[in-house]
Amino acid sequence: SEDEVVNVSVILRDGTEKVIRGKVGDNLLYLCHRYDVPMEGACEASLACSTCHVYVDEDYLDTLPEAEEEEEDMLDMAVQLKENSRLGCQIRLTKELEGLKVELPKATRNFYVDGHVPTPH
Ligand code: FES
Repeated sequence: SEDEVVNVSVILRDGTEKVIRGKVGDNLLYLCHRYDVPMEGACEASLACSTCHVYVDEDYLDTLPEAEEEEEDMLDMAVQLKENSRLGCQIRLTKELEGLKVELPKATRNFYVDGHVPTPH
């Protein structure tokens, strides 16, 4: 139903903004893929890469649940890490995230397919 719709705007690598319509419960990575938004997801949301790295608009940072340790560990491997960096595949849409804005970083590092899988600790 309309109640469940969550609009998300994504700033693409060329600076253009694309608004996509998800619903409550959607995983941001797969939602992006449905709309041909080029968010990479090399490990299929299994927290083993950082290619789904996004910058989350400051206004929404506190609305997201805090990153789990595994997410933090993967983010540490991301290039161009910022205060508002998160992994797109760990973002689930909620009503409170209506209007969410995320930006794709200019580059991502794919150590997953490169075979440099970090040792778990
Ligand atoms: Fe690999 Fe998100 S797709 S951590």
